[in-house]
Amino acid sequence: MKELSQLLANIPPSVTLAVNDKAKSLQRDGKDVIALAGGDPDFDTPPHIVEAAVQAIKNGRTHYPAPAKGLPEALEAVADKMARDNGVYVDPRTDVVITPGSKWALYLALAAIVNPGDEVIYLEPVWVSYPPLIRIAGGAPVAVTLPEETNFTVTEALLREKVTPRTKAIMVNSPCNPSGRVLSQDEINTIVRVAIDEDLYVITDEVYEKLVFDDHKHYSLAAQPEMAERTLTTNGLSKGYAMTGWRLGWIVGPPDLVKLAARMHSQTVTSAATFTMVAAAAALNGPQDVVEAMCCSYQERRDFMVKALNEIEGIECRNTDGAFYLMPRFTNTEKNSVELADALLEEAMIAATPGAAFGASTERHLRFSIATAMSELERAVERLERVVGRL
Ligand SMILES: Cc1ncc(COP(=O)(O)O)c(C=O)c1O
Repeated sequence: MKELSQLLANIPPSVTLAVNDKAKSLQRDGKDVIALAGGDPDFDTPPHIVEAAVQAIKNGRTHYPAPAKGLPEALEAVADKMARDNGVYVDPRTDVVITPGSKWALYLALAAIVNPGDEVIYLEPVWVSYPPLIRIAGGAPVAVTLPEETNFTVTEALLREKVTPRTKAIMVNSPCNPSGRVLSQDEINTIVRVAIDEDLYVITDEVYEKLVFDDHKHYSLAAQPEMAERTLTTNGLSKGYAMTGWRLGWIVGPPDLVKLAARMHSQTVTSAATFTMVAAAAALNGPQDVVEAMCCSYQERRDFMVKALNEIEGIECRNTDGAFYLMPRFTNTEKNSVELADALLEEAMIAATPGAAFGASTERHLRFSIATAMSELERAVERLERVVGRL
């Protein structure tokens, strides 16, 4: 048999999905696993959004959408949302593509920008899929490792150190999975300065935008002066609206880039699902209090978990600004994060993601998802108190 794709053979499978699958399979075998490895809200999709999709199906909205890049009502809902929430003013006819999930929007963004060998900078800790997505698009991933001692703060020196004549773009994710950091206006200004000076595109992943705690504020890069022409924004309904399984996201940016993204989209997946786009318009145009209520609930869980974890001898956990993850560090063990995650599953039946999956800054951490019921988090803390000395 002839050789299969070298590119894909060298792409690792997603570590987060792998840990989650292992936990689910133990649960199916009757084991009492507390699953803290996933990134899927425990809430159900708000009923008015479900109802909009059911009605759309009943009304026969089950055919290919026209245009393929998105139903006009969904494109308009995204453009209105960008103006309302982000201060970014776009033309729904030329500047938006509706995608099956924001992960596909990230891929479209890279596909529209990258030529073979172009370097794309990303910030560590990083969501596991960025380096593989860059490689699949033909680019070379370049990590900027943000140290934990500075609370993963972005600085001009760290960014500039990694810029070369081949650098094409910077990928940014705020609120960040896994660190829970929300970039400050100063850090946003730093990224803007470097992007403009070095003539770089920016891909900004804002999928956790609705999950911001305390008095932190989400700043959109496309809204900063002179940035709209070089910024592609990706976002979606998965996290904020508890709609992971619906697969609904979008990419927004300047028309020449979005045109290429739309070309790739139509020649691959064709479109997002028609009735899902009707539901997306209902989600974005409808009441937002449900989204705020879910965010409050994540904040309560964060408050509980950060305090409880820091009270356990041998665990240190930074506070977070947003998203629904914590990155505790286990201070009394020589184990690396992969060994630690295995030991935790074995000793305490707690599934967590090894920090190494997110890059060099979190090699001795685990990632816990708090998109899990409070009762489960309480049980996790009890188990951790019992086993931490044995890890
Ligand atoms: C940082 C980040 N970006 C993008 C995604 C993709 O989300 P979706 O494709 O469900 O919109 C995820 C999912 O975990 C994520 O954590």
